[in-house]
Amino acid sequence: MRVLVGGGTGFIGTALTQLLKARGHEVTLISRKPGPDRITWDELTTSGLPRCDAAVNLAGENILNPLRRWNAAFQKEVLSSRLETTQTLAGAIAKAPQPPQAWVLVTGVAYYQPSLTAEYDEDSPGGDFDFFSNLVTKWEAAARLPGDSTRQVVVRSGVVLGRGGGAIGHMLLPFRLGLGGPIGSGHQFFPWIHIRDLAGILAHALETSHVQGILNGVAPTSSTTNAEFARALGAALGRPAFIPLPSAVVQAVFGQERAVMLLEGQKVVPRRTLAAGYQYSFPELGAALKEVIA
Ligand SMILES: NC(=O)c1ccc[n+]([C@@H]2O[C@H](COP(=O)([O-])OP(=O)(O)OC[C@H]3O[C@@H](n4cnc5c(N)ncnc54)[C@H](OP(=O)(O)O)[C@@H]3O)[C@@H](O)[C@H]2O)c1
Repeated sequence: MRVLVGGGTGFIGTALTQLLKARGHEVTLISRKPGPDRITWDELTTSGLPRCDAAVNLAGENILNPLRRWNAAFQKEVLSSRLETTQTLAGAIAKAPQPPQAWVLVTGVAYYQPSLTAEYDEDSPGGDFDFFSNLVTKWEAAARLPGDSTRQVVVRSGVVLGRGGGAIGHMLLPFRLGLGGPIGSGHQFFPWIHIRDLAGILAHALETSHVQGILNGVAPTSSTTNAEFARALGAALGRPAFIPLPSAVVQAVFGQERAVMLLEGQKVVPRRTLAAGYQYSFPELGAALKEVIA
């Protein structure tokens, strides 16, 4: 297949591109910057969809950048970088004389309300209680195409664990120094997925003609709490991981509204992902972490 990947230059896009190429597909990225094997968002707007069999969107300003203050300007960038790219790509697909077979968007499990007791699958309600859940609702709506000439899939991802990026990129140094530990109370759920599995679910969704609708992009053993995650990361590194990161510090760095992403969590199960026939490479946290830190 020829696959067009919006935001494919990033953390998840690099892993997805590698996997798709290894499976014999051709990949063209959509980026803000021109380059080889790329088109820009402006070119997509002016020239329309290039010939492709499938499209994915991964573009979005990094929400958990600790160097950016959580103010109105940053919130607007977080929103518009996702909604505008998704609208542009969906619009180009809708207008294409030969529409692609599949269109896949990655959003997040922030759709589901944080809880210490609830368990969410893809049919659970959500999407209407805070900034991030509203963002996911608008983002998924921006992707929706009229008609059924293109198969539509949304993967709601948990925290992606992989080498050289993502949340774990910020955690490794303190944990390696033995200064790591749970965030806040540590009781909150920590829905995670290994990057190879997220790329695998995306490739499975692109290649499998019966897959459509929402898929949760989390590991099947995702009842991990933040404290369990901290212990497992400490164990994988052979370091103690007892020093908690106080809620007040997280709130001071990230702002109260954004800090919820770290201080609270959801128990999410990938019921439809498993039913769609996806087989995980890293279902267990210990093995996933060993691969990431190797
Ligand atoms: N990583 C995770 O744990 C995780 C979890 C759940 C959901 N997600 C979602 O999955 C998607 C991909 O995540 P990722 O970790 O791969 O992201 P990433 O590496 O931070 O960024 C992906 C790409 O988005 C583009 N981008 C960044 N800021 C932009 C802006 N202001 N306007 C337009 N494009 C912009 C960049 O491409 P160019 O510079 O080439 O334009 C970048 O390479 C994101 O939408 C993210 O919200 C990620």
